[in-house]
Amino acid sequence: MLIQDILAAKRDGHPLNAAEIREFIGAIADDKVGDEQIGAFAMAVYLRGMSLDETVALTEATRDSGHVLDYRGLDLPGPVLDKHSTGGVGDPVSLILGPWLAACGAHIPMISGRGLGHTGGTLDKLEAIPGYNVTPDHSTFERLLREPGVAIVGQSGNLAPADKRLYAVRDVTATVASLPLIVASILGKKLAENLDALVMDVKIGNGAFLASDAETRELATTIAEVATRSGTPTTALLTDMNQSLASSAGNAVEVRECLDIMTGQRRGGRLLELTRTLAIEALVAGKLTDNAETAARKLDQVLTSGQVAERFAAMVAGLGGPADLLEHRDRYLAEAPVIRELYAAEAGVVASQDVKALGMSVVSLGGGRRRAADRIDHRVGLDQIAAIGSRVDQQTPLARIHAASDDDAARIADQLSTCFSIAESAEAPPLVHDILG
Ligand code: URA
Repeated sequence: MLIQDILAAKRDGHPLNAAEIREFIGAIADDKVGDEQIGAFAMAVYLRGMSLDETVALTEATRDSGHVLDYRGLDLPGPVLDKHSTGGVGDPVSLILGPWLAACGAHIPMISGRGLGHTGGTLDKLEAIPGYNVTPDHSTFERLLREPGVAIVGQSGNLAPADKRLYAVRDVTATVASLPLIVASILGKKLAENLDALVMDVKIGNGAFLASDAETRELATTIAEVATRSGTPTTALLTDMNQSLASSAGNAVEVRECLDIMTGQRRGGRLLELTRTLAIEALVAGKLTDNAETAARKLDQVLTSGQVAERFAAMVAGLGGPADLLEHRDRYLAEAPVIRELYAAEAGVVASQDVKALGMSVVSLGGGRRRAADRIDHRVGLDQIAAIGSRVDQQTPLARIHAASDDDAARIADQLSTCFSIAESAEAPPLVHDILG
């Protein structure tokens, strides 16, 4: 079929079949269509939508537009699993979850991204560790996947290349916010990891990627259905992003919090609880345990025995980072020169956080990017962020600001003070709103 005929069919509201979709996506990857045709396709899908069958076909064509990982030669003894999040603030779950699942016998080829808008990026966090190389050669990646069982790295050029072009065009043609395009973009890349099972962490709330809770719920349901129909059993959890997940937000500060959890120096808290919940889902989906209770027992045992921290440290060393990170974290994780507390104007209980504004204050400190070419200051960010339902007063701050200068700290303190609302009492929102799929 001519490319123009495929575009006309979608423009006029006719469903495309799998062969037509595959032809168009293949033509994107092979550079046989121009950006104007990609833009027309994106706009037609944006306006006309896609059925579930079409979305499955679009996802599979995106996955197959480049290299799909193949583990046959590796003879891995356990399942290949991963988790993907739609992006949040103070969300370093991947750093703990990857080594945690590996310590339970899974293999985690975690291909991650950088910060986007107000949300943080796993690769940016890991690059706070000096020497950590997010683009290792393929043999290093495969060696780490075998032992210690986890490699958290960046995307290689040939993984779902059609998405790279399509996303760049969507970004400048007002067509990002289309459910089928989002689903195929996220899953096209993830399914190219050739997983035995996937757990999706779809964030819901004022810091979530999509503005409305109804759209977010539809995204989660569609992701679980499409991925499972494409051969990767997938569970989607709707998890709360009405407040920062961790008590820190930034890069080095979040790595420090993760190390505290993995080494047992910090117990409890929302970050640990959500990571454990996602890990239970992954172990059951990957058939490493029969049920949630045995999964939880296994997870608790490997965490307490220090195996999670050891796997993380082995991955860091294997990717060029220091071999003694656990022993000497302060030597390696740089601290900002200015650390300043921000107190509430009145004592009370934190009733809400404006999570987008919180995330943008980290970007504004230099901990994220406004343009793709911006350099990140890994030292800056926030810690001791007061959770919803916790008491603040003149001794307990709303947050501590880690800044490159006194001026930056003062500027951000002004912005941040409006991110929190204070009341006489408040209840924390649930951590997991729903489990789908
Ligand atoms: N993340 C992606 O990878 N793709 C989208 O379309 C939206 C979020």
